[in-house]
This record gives sequence, structure tokens and C-alpha cells, in this order.
Amino acid sequence: MSRLAWGGLGVLFATVGFGVYWSTMQMMSWLVWGSIGVLLGAVGLGVYWSRDGFDPESIRGATVVITGCSSGIGEEMAYQYARLGAKILIAARRENRLKEVVAKAKSLGAQEAHYVAGDMGKAEDCERTIQTAKEKFGRLDYLVLNHAGSSFGSISTWAEDFRFWEDNPDMDFFVDFMNVNLISYVRLASLALPLLKEGGGHIVVMSSYAGKIPTMSYSPANAVQFAQDGFFSCLRAELKKAGRNVSVTLAVLSMVRTEATEKMLKKIPGGEDMLAYAAPVDQTAQAVIRGGATRAREIYYPFYQSWPISNIRRLPAFLEDYLIQDALAM
Ligand SMILES: *[C@@H]1O[C@H](CO)[C@@H](O)[C@H](O)[C@H]1NC(C)=O
Repeated sequence: MSRLAWGGLGVLFATVGFGVYWSTMQMMSWLVWGSIGVLLGAVGLGVYWSRDGFDPESIRGATVVITGCSSGIGEEMAYQYARLGAKILIAARRENRLKEVVAKAKSLGAQEAHYVAGDMGKAEDCERTIQTAKEKFGRLDYLVLNHAGSSFGSISTWAEDFRFWEDNPDMDFFVDFMNVNLISYVRLASLALPLLKEGGGHIVVMSSYAGKIPTMSYSPANAVQFAQDGFFSCLRAELKKAGRNVSVTLAVLSMVRTEATEKMLKKIPGGEDMLAYAAPVDQTAQAVIRGGATRAREIYYPFYQSWPISNIRRLPAFLEDYLIQDALAM
């Protein structure tokens, strides 16, 4: 079992244990001992967590393909892989931005930095991306699937303008959104698999808690992210069963303070307050890089937000309904 599963079980048992103490004993001394126990458990867990066995040297010379690199977490990941001495190939639509990111990545220490300007919603651009990796590197250690978008505008714009699906059941948007954000992920992974299998590679899929619980006003994003979890969890199991040394890491993020998120939140009431809880981009990128390198099945970041929210559906239905329809709704 993974660190995360053991950690999750630990938290669960600690919470249940504490609840049992609380309700049956109802005595101050038990409360005090219980609190100390939980505290020690949390500290122990924290220490255990921080020792994920990540070796920064393992990234030196590693070959990395990252999609969606013109801004946000993808851009930051490119810089962090560069600092660790990786060889990177980045892909996005805007060529002028890609040139800038490549130049900066080189100055930060990337052993090599290349780009492919392309639209991942197009099969031929996916093919060109992996083909270029093959030609430039001859092998592939990391495939980081990070791009998000639609030729019809972004999901955040969609959610701002049209709150609920029934108010704007836009099938053209939905089909395009699935194509860019789901089908291309499967396509890129399939194209890269032969290269990844050669050297014990890693697939990293960027997702969020919207792939674990329904978040109102984002149903197309929920559809994509639940499907990413379904497909890539199945791929992970099949690769393992077949004895392939290719890991699949699902990054379950909470809100991250990218420029796009800031712009979106500033437009909605109460959004500015929510920004205070958004995770810094650099720390998020680092957590994902560590998770990929240590072959974690899933990483939740920031854990204290993403993990509890992701498990809301395990609660009794009335609690799930309250949290999803009232507490979490924007
Ligand atoms: C799997 O690949 C990694 C490189 O990513 C390597 O260090 C490890 O030894 C490989 N494991 C097996 C069982 O081949």
C-alpha cells in the first residue's frame, strides 16, 4: 500500500479513536490524553510524510515532456525541472510564450530545452510532440499531462457565465472540452508508452478534487477529471499486472494561485477571500515533481484541503449534499 493510503488510514483511525474516547469516557483526563495522542500522531505523520525518499539528483539528465507550459503550473514545473538539470520538451499553443519559457529554462540550468507549438486537441499535434521527444531525446522518463482549455474558452469562463448545466447545455463546448482535456491525455499517453516502457518512465496527470467529488457549475470539468481518474487508474493497474515499470501519478490539487485563478476569483463575490487559501504555484509544482519522481499513485496538494474535500462522497448522503450544495458552492 502507498504512503498515502497508510496515512489516510492513520488519520481515519486517529479520528474514529478520538471520537470513541470522547463519547464514551466524557472525562477531562481522557480528553487531554486523547488530544496529546492525536497531536503526536499528527506530528509523526508529518515527519513520515516529509520523508518521501525524493532524490533531486534523480531528475538530472532526465527527459521530460510537459504540456500546457505557456503559463501557470506547467510553466513553473518547466522551470523547476530545469533547475534540477532535466532535459525538457514543452508544448502549448502560443509559440512566443514557449520561446520565452525555453530561454528562461535554459538560463536556469536545463541540460536541453525544446518546444513544440501545437494544439493538443489535434491528433497530429500530439503525434508531433511525442515524435519530437523521440528525435531529440531518444527516450522518455516523464510525461506530464498538464494542459487545459478549449477552443470555446476556458471552463472558468464557462462557469462564470452559465452557472448550471441546465442553463446552458452547450454540447459543442462539451465535446471540444472532452477532446482537449481528456482524449488528448489518453492519446499522448498511448503515443508515449513505448518510449516510457524502455526506461522505467513516469506518467503524471494533473487533476483536482473536481475529479473526486461533483463541484457545482463545473460539470464538464468533473466529467473530464473523473474520467482521467478512471482511465489512468486502470492503466496503472494494467501496467503493474503486465510487469511494466511505468508509474502513473494522479495529482489531486486544490485551488492554486495561478494568474488565471486570480483573474477568475477577482470576478466572483467573495472570491478575493478564497484567494487566501490558494496554494502557491511554486510549492504546488514542487509537490507534483516529488510525487512523480517517487512514483506516488496519487498526491493531494495542499493535503489539508484536497484530501478531506476529495473524500466528501464517503460521508452519509445528507452531509455530502450539504457540503457540495451549500458549503463548497461558489
Ligand atoms: C524502474 O525504473 C526506475 C527508473 O525510473 C529504476 O530506477 C528502477 O530500478 C526500475 N525498476 C525495475 C524493477 O526495473
